[in-house]
This record gives sequence, C-alpha cells and structure tokens, in this order.
Amino acid sequence: MQAVLDYLKQNETRFVNELCDYVRFPSVSAQSSHKPDLNDCAGWLTEHCRRIGLETELCPTAGNPVVVARTPRNGAGKPHFVVYGHYDVQPAEPFELWKSKPFEPRIEGRSLFARGASDNKGQHLAHLNAVESYLKTKTKLPCDLTFVIEGEEEVGSKSLAGFLRTNTKRLRCDAVVISDNGIPRKDLPALTYALRGILAVELVVHGPSRDLHSGIYGGSVDNPAMALSQLLAQLRDKKGRVAVPGFYEDVVPLSAYERRQLARLPHSEAAYRKFLGVPECFGEKGYSAIERRTARPTIEINGLTSGYQGEGSKTIVPSWARAKLTFRLVPNQTPEKIRKALLARLKELCPPTVRLEVEAGHGAEPYLVSPTSEHAKAAIRALKSAFNREPVLMREGGSIPIVNEFKKHLQADTLLLGLSLPDDNAHSPNEKFDLDCFSHGMRMSAYLWQELSGQ
Ligand code: BES
Ligand code: MN
Repeated sequence: MQAVLDYLKQNETRFVNELCDYVRFPSVSAQSSHKPDLNDCAGWLTEHCRRIGLETELCPTAGNPVVVARTPRNGAGKPHFVVYGHYDVQPAEPFELWKSKPFEPRIEGRSLFARGASDNKGQHLAHLNAVESYLKTKTKLPCDLTFVIEGEEEVGSKSLAGFLRTNTKRLRCDAVVISDNGIPRKDLPALTYALRGILAVELVVHGPSRDLHSGIYGGSVDNPAMALSQLLAQLRDKKGRVAVPGFYEDVVPLSAYERRQLARLPHSEAAYRKFLGVPECFGEKGYSAIERRTARPTIEINGLTSGYQGEGSKTIVPSWARAKLTFRLVPNQTPEKIRKALLARLKELCPPTVRLEVEAGHGAEPYLVSPTSEHAKAAIRALKSAFNREPVLMREGGSIPIVNEFKKHLQADTLLLGLSLPDDNAHSPNEKFDLDCFSHGMRMSAYLWQELSGQ
C-alpha cells in the first residue's frame, strides 16, 4: 500500500497535466455542435485507460459513447466494484464571465480552472490515478474494478440506462462508487447518502403567427410572454412551496433525528448570502437552508425567452414565449407522477387566448441509501485515512440520474464520495477543481479498495 501512496505523490505533476489535457475537450453534451468533441474526448479517455493498464472498450450508443475500462481479472471470487463518472460537461456560456477561456485550463494557487474540471473530469480521474498506481507498482488489488464513464450525464443519461440493461452480466457488482458531488469544506470529508431527483420540462406559449406591431395590435391579442409569466408565477406560492396540487403527496418528511444531523453541518447564513451575492436567502418556510437545498423539493426556471433580445427597443407583441423548468424531487416523489400533476395544473392555468405546448424533458428519481451499511462504514474509513478527519454524513441537492438505474438493473447501492467544493462553480462561469481535493481523492480511492474488500 505504501508503494501506491508513494507513486501517487511522485506522479502528481503528471496527473495534473493529464487533467489539463482532459479538460481541453469542449465535451458539451447539450449542444449538438460539440458532438465531434464528445467523440474525441471519449477517444482520449479510452487511450488513457489503456495506457494505465486497463482493458478498455469504447462502446458506441445511440448517443455519446460509453467508455468501459476493467482492471485485468486475475482469479475469481474477488469483490467487484463499478466506478461511474461522466466526461460530458455543461455549456460554458456566458463566456464573457470567464476570467480565462473555459477550455484552456489555468492553474492559480491550488485551483485548476476549466469547464468540467470539477464536474466531473477531475473527480473520476482521481480514481483512475489510484488504480494506475496499483497497476504500475504491481500492488495486488483486493477487488475487481470496472470503470463506466459516460457522455450524457448532463442531459439525463438516456443512452446509459439502455446500456446497463444490455450489459448487466459484466457489470454485476457489489457496489457502485461515484465521485460526482461535493463536500462541505476541503478539510471536511463526507459520505453523501441521498440525492434529489429531477423532472425537466419545457413550456412554449404560442400567440400570434408572427411578431406583431405592439401599437397597432397590442391590447387586442394576448401577449405570450405575459401569459407565460402569469402562468409561471402561479406555480409557486408565497411560502416558497410548489403550487401544483398533489406535488407534496409522496414526500417523506424528514425525521427529527435526520434534522438534528443536518443541523450539525457547518453553515452560516450571512456567509452563504455573501458567497451567493443575494440580498437575502430564500426558501420554503419552516426549513433550514441545508434542508431546503438537499432534502426539500423545488421548482426552478432555468431559462426564459421571448421577444426581442437585441440592443435598444423593439415594440412588438412576440409570437411565442418559452421557459425551461426543472423540479428537484425528494423521496418518494417520482418524475412520472409529478409530470402528470403538472400537466393537469397547466391545463387549468392556461388561458384560451394562447396555445400551450409542453415538451417533456428528462427525469430521474431521488436516491436515498443507508449510511450505516458495511460498505458505507468502509467508505467512511477510507475518507478518514485520506483526509485525516472524521467524515460527516450529508444529503445533496443535485441529481445523478443513473444511480437508480444501477439499483434497478444491477441491484447495487451507490457510495457517493464527492470531491468538489461549494465554491467550485459547477455549472457556472469559472469552474475550478481544487488540487488538494484531487490528491486527497486519489488517496481516498487507494484506501477505498482495501477497506471495501475487507483487507
Ligand atoms: N455532479 C452533478 C450532480 C451533483 C452535484 C450531485 C452536486 C450532488 C451535488 C451532476 O453532474 C449534475 O449536474 N447533474 C445534473 C443532472 C441533470 C441534468 C439530469 C443536475 O443535477 O442538474
Ligand atoms: Mn453537472
């Protein structure tokens, strides 16, 4: 084991350079113009996995390819773990808010700035580096590992679900390990035992067949931007709750025990407000900020477009208005049921003066797993060894759609061992990954395989 840790230390500069190479691919899955970059990125990853000694396959899907990389199998009967990650990234827009170009990595202090550095390239590369270290130092791995790294996580993991269905045999495992989430502080490791689910929909309100002169026609036809705004405004009430009948029906209330545990996580209202640049925090009445952002369901408008966006004024009644919405879901809500409830409410709310079209987007169920299983305890020991500090247990507000599919198709629970920090700017301009988290993550992974395999 010492040889593994020494190797990690000795090769740290090269690992950082490789992460730089990896983040140079603008692998933005939401934008079809980046399709070639996704393929190139998957190609680079495949080559990388082969170079470090993994048996690697680049598996085409209807969407972006999945990279499957296995440690050489020597001897039966070892435990088997799947490590999941994603090489696709969120769009980098708005570009002008980046201090340096999003796909030209920049290192400042212990931060590596680039889109995808934290979410998720740096985090799964930490695991690959740990495994490289085992293989190159010829240290016996106490388990078999299969990396599954996909290219559609940021758009709902559509192809991977089918991939799991047709590859259950070779992916059957004792547990799945994912580092695609966060920890509260760089000196405070955490095991995450819950994620929120999600439902994405897009609303289009159609008005006149073309943009009209607002002086000549305004007042005699409905304005789609206005109609959409009024409709959206009725989806959330004054208490910060989602105003869709039945929305809270299946929500499992937080137990008093859990609320006490969540209250122990570090949080300062004033620092949080300042960090986010808001005049005051917001949220559902009766819940703390940590509960609101990890354990309560929400509605968000992610994008809102209509009419003239250019310089100056243009007096029109726009022909259409569009909103991208997501709902974060908690146990036991399901995207299917919430979608039905939403459609029914929208039907009631839509005035007869416009036509509403609802485009159904992706959905994922929430995830909740026991933080006291033997695997969870082993993960906690590995975190403690790597960070030299007792880990905390936490829930996360983000979603990783595939975790429920792992449960469904492989009957495997997922250990969520995040390495990103709250100020990593995931999905925002100036995303970065902390290089101390990178090296702690590699060490954590090195210990993890020993701990999980009961060595
Ligand atoms: N890494 C995130 C998910 C995440 C972030 C989990 C922080 C926990 C804490 C992941 O890449 C992500 O952003 N997922 C999307 C999924 C969606 C597009 C289906 C999300 O949560 O918005
Ligand atoms: Mn993400």
